[in-house]
Amino acid sequence: MPLITFDGHQYDCHQGETILECLTRHGLLVASGCQSGVCQTCITKAVKGRPTADSQKGLKDTQVAQNYFLTCVCKPEEDMELAVADLSKGSMAATVVEKQLLNESVLRLRLKCEHEFDYVAGQFVNVKHPETGLVRSYSLASLPSDEALELHIKRVPDGRMSGYLHDETSVGDALSIDGPAGECFYTIKDLDQPLLMVAVGTGLAPLYGIVRDALKHGHRGEIHLFHASLAIPGLYYSDEMNALADQYEKVHYTPCVLHGDAPDGGKQGDIQQLVKSAIPDLSGWRVYVCGDPAIVNGLKQTCFLAGASMADIYSDPFVF
Ligand SMILES: Cc1cc2nc3c(=O)[nH]c(=O)nc-3n(C[C@H](O)[C@H](O)[C@H](O)COP(=O)(O)OP(=O)(O)OC[C@H]3O[C@@H](n4cnc5c(N)ncnc54)[C@H](O)[C@@H]3O)c2cc1C
Ligand code: FES
Repeated sequence: MPLITFDGHQYDCHQGETILECLTRHGLLVASGCQSGVCQTCITKAVKGRPTADSQKGLKDTQVAQNYFLTCVCKPEEDMELAVADLSKGSMAATVVEKQLLNESVLRLRLKCEHEFDYVAGQFVNVKHPETGLVRSYSLASLPSDEALELHIKRVPDGRMSGYLHDETSVGDALSIDGPAGECFYTIKDLDQPLLMVAVGTGLAPLYGIVRDALKHGHRGEIHLFHASLAIPGLYYSDEMNALADQYEKVHYTPCVLHGDAPDGGKQGDIQQLVKSAIPDLSGWRVYVCGDPAIVNGLKQTCFLAGASMADIYSDPFVF
């Protein structure tokens, strides 16, 4: 049973337990968000012992070299001693400059950072609750050249952070954010490669950034963007997406709903089936899938089986 040394105390870590679970079981409050190795809130440095390879996935080479790792996915294989990383170094204040509902449950927040914020379209930021310290990730719908950061926040029933952002923030308030993080973004590896983008709900946020980023880089291949929702009221940004499709012949936008009538210019049915019948052969395509984790994982599998290479499938599952 590996021993974890933290802040001068030793804690036994059960077989199969992550370091985050071990410390929480012993009553310690450790910062965490997604608890699945995505948001990087729980990043910590090992001062003794080697972190598992899994727990360093997605970290920068420089962080790996310094023994940083994610406690929420690290099941230690040997005794380890930890130092809590100083995350406050990466946090900054961002002022709410616009707050607007995009449909009945999705809020658009625009934020201005106190300092320059360097990111790539499609990455996400971690927002910290000012009173409880709760951290949640939200994808960036903006481009770095835009004046403000743009977030699309879906109201989740009884959701602590989404409820707070919908109901308790106002224009002029300062939020604490850190990041950016995430590997789901456009890269200029092949300007002629056809791109498939599938957004589920607020999964449109990163893809709205990525599609505009691809166009800005002069992407020449066809770009098909599907936006999936349960029903028409869950869709948003149809005007913005139709405007892009009007402006660029290579951009094709298909709003999709599971229930009820098909939206204008869109389709009704299961999103996996709709994508499969629209583009049966994805050999040579690059695929981006963002939003609800269960649907994202199913779509990734569908796209792989339709011929897309795993290395060409990028995704941001909104794990919760
Ligand atoms: C990389 C990443 C990017 C993300 N980007 C976005 C984004 O751009 N926009 C966005 O709206 N969200 C996004 N999320 C999800 C977001 O981080 C939160 O999980 C979400 O807002 C719920 O947090 P909460 O504190 O309001 O709910 P909590 O208080 O954590 O949860 C309340 C209850 O709702 C359930 N629940 C939580 N989330 C959902 C959900 N999505 N659907 C159904 N039930 C749920 C929980 O299991 C719990 O029972 C992203 C997540 C990740 C990991
Ligand atoms: S809590 Fe560990 S990466 Fe999100």
